[in-house]
Amino acid sequence: MTKITDTLFTDAHTAYSFTDQPVSDSQLAELYELVKFAPTPMNSQALRVMFIRTAEGKQRLLPHLAEANQPKSASAPVVAILAYDTEFHEYLPVHAPNNAGAKESYSDPVKRIAAAKDIATLQAGYFILAVRSVGLDAGPMAGFSREGVDAEFLTDTTWKSLYVVNIGHAAPEGIRSRSPRLPAEDALIWR
Ligand SMILES: Cc1cc2nc3c(=O)[nH]c(=O)nc-3n(C[C@H](O)[C@H](O)[C@H](O)COP(=O)(O)O)c2cc1C
Repeated sequence: MTKITDTLFTDAHTAYSFTDQPVSDSQLAELYELVKFAPTPMNSQALRVMFIRTAEGKQRLLPHLAEANQPKSASAPVVAILAYDTEFHEYLPVHAPNNAGAKESYSDPVKRIAAAKDIATLQAGYFILAVRSVGLDAGPMAGFSREGVDAEFLTDTTWKSLYVVNIGHAAPEGIRSRSPRLPAEDALIWR
């Protein structure tokens, strides 16, 4: 039996091209039901996700991606735009019942947007793990025009794009060999 640590970490690879095997809406819904449990500061939930599943949606997205990234998203059955909600604090009276004044603590928009990016970035890490946990492969990408994606897809929201994640079943040629990781002796200090 595959160990959960293999599925999420040691055997998991970033995917750069995908097979034709479809991804169902129920798989995408299932993965959000996991992502939502990510712990965050004061339980602030800034991450928002737009799933692009149609050919028309892909055609609109591709021109905003770095050229080298376009074939990667073109081959993915689903592309998720991960975004942060600049107004996430509006939910805090409900989401942070144990923190009186949580919403007001984010009233400065400059600090709030910095916090939204931090929180959504943390949640994005969980998003990648959730994709893997439901048996799919993820290809996260930062190589795209955030301004372009925001103007194309997010003008009627309070969301701003952060990452794009290709989702599907990795093609055999869509996996690269592992590049070296920082060893523990360089990453850890013990005191
Ligand atoms: C936030 C983020 C942004 C990334 N941006 C790109 C990108 O724009 N294009 C690309 O081909 N890969 C991108 N990658 C993929 C990384 O290069 C890859 O995850 C890393 O090298 C580890 O590969 P591995 O999972 O196969 O070990 C990105 C990954 C992350 C997490």
